[in-house]
Amino acid sequence: MSKNVYVTTAIPYVNGAPHIGHTLDYLLADTYVRYQKKNGNTVRLQAGTDEHGNKIFKKAKENNIKVEEYVANNSKKFQDLIKKLGVEPTDFVRTTDEAHEKRVQEIWRRLEDHIYKSSYEGWYCEGCERFVPDSEYKEQNGICPDHQKPYEKLEEENYYFRIADFKDQIKEAIEKDELKILPEFRKKEMLKLLEDTPDVSISRPKKQLSWGVPVPGDGTQVMYVWLDALSNYITVLGYPDKDISDFWPAELQIVGKDILRFHSIIWPAMLLGLGLPLPKVLLSHGHVQTNGEKMSKSLGNVVDPLEVLDKYGLPAFRYYFLRHADTFLDADFTWEKYDAAYNNELANDLGNLVQRLATLCKKNNIVGLFDYQPKKDSSYCAMMDEFYFSKAFDYAWEKVSDLNKHIDDEKPWTLAKEGKTEQVVKVLTSLVKDLLDAADLLEPFLPETAEKINQIFKSENIAPPETPLFPKS
Ligand code: MSP
Repeated sequence: MSKNVYVTTAIPYVNGAPHIGHTLDYLLADTYVRYQKKNGNTVRLQAGTDEHGNKIFKKAKENNIKVEEYVANNSKKFQDLIKKLGVEPTDFVRTTDEAHEKRVQEIWRRLEDHIYKSSYEGWYCEGCERFVPDSEYKEQNGICPDHQKPYEKLEEENYYFRIADFKDQIKEAIEKDELKILPEFRKKEMLKLLEDTPDVSISRPKKQLSWGVPVPGDGTQVMYVWLDALSNYITVLGYPDKDISDFWPAELQIVGKDILRFHSIIWPAMLLGLGLPLPKVLLSHGHVQTNGEKMSKSLGNVVDPLEVLDKYGLPAFRYYFLRHADTFLDADFTWEKYDAAYNNELANDLGNLVQRLATLCKKNNIVGLFDYQPKKDSSYCAMMDEFYFSKAFDYAWEKVSDLNKHIDDEKPWTLAKEGKTEQVVKVLTSLVKDLLDAADLLEPFLPETAEKINQIFKSENIAPPETPLFPKS
């Protein structure tokens, strides 16, 4: 039976242009969306941009541009990138949208039983937009390891969200996998963090933070960006103005490892406070590094996704980041590795295979298998259903490698020379079927390529494409 499936991606800060790391959320989500659609399900995919907070406000000032204009420009860059990646969200939210802001204020009102005012004295990292406990401050010698900036000392009156009200429920949901955290080793980390998490500050005095959603009923305070940002997953569906039960709870929420903590603690607490069900799966992927180093503006090693896309086109980009970035671990990008993956794998393994097989089919007058239905592969489905996308991709690629071996073993060209026509037809037809099966497994990852393979081998007159699928560079 067909079901409704809701998939979400983290909404990036718009304090700059996107880098290659930002593409993982979209590529992983898109792969799952395509897989779900193939299974006959109805899917909604959210995306958006996180546009409030001091970090962004200051950047706009530095650039001498009105903040509204600055965030609109950068949001557009992310929207363009998403399109270029072949990803089509059904819903897009900007946190500066009026509808979103109003809905977040209503969410605040509905959480008021769990909110109290108190004064705060402690440390804050603007890069993370996060208050850090004294213990962490000491451990890091006063400097945020992710942003290489000293923590700021804050002394202010803030509103607090009483996480303690929900800790037991969240713990139980995570332990029982009702809120499944992937990968498993992160689940343990999150349970430990949850235990140690104090109530969280969810506002800042307006004089400290002007660029944000005003706290309802208190003109002196502005909402903490994470409360505003996390709400996007439901405001974009229309909550609380609309009944969202058709698509909420989300089937899958995708985030990077650095922000899993917000999604495993504050987010479930908010949902429980609103009386909404928790998402089914929180998937945290690793980070993309370059040359084994963290990407950062100060190191000057930030890679522009548009430049990578330009080099060999979209299928190569999707191939590299969906197969060579293990779904759950950090990955490395270098141009050398990218070139090698393109030439040795896409061009040699797959491109050549298509070219060779289509040429053999043409020579031997093999008729296209236009009504061929690919076989269902339960091992592959199991990997996809466990959200281990890179592993499922490896599995699909093994089919491609096997096919190359089979052609070499069966030598249809020798059979043809020997005049064994019947056998040639049998061998080639079986190879084409196997290739169509492989293309079917590749489709969620490489939709364009799968489509091309189908076109070639399902057409009446099979013929190799004039330009190979992946011309060698
Ligand atoms: N605005 C918050 C998210 C709010 S979600 C309610 C944020 N923005 S971000 O721009 O810093 O990150 C957006 C996404 O990109 C996150 O999933 C983050 O983990 C991911 N990545 C940021 N750098 C990355 C890499 N180098 N590699 C892979 N993913 C990376 O956090």
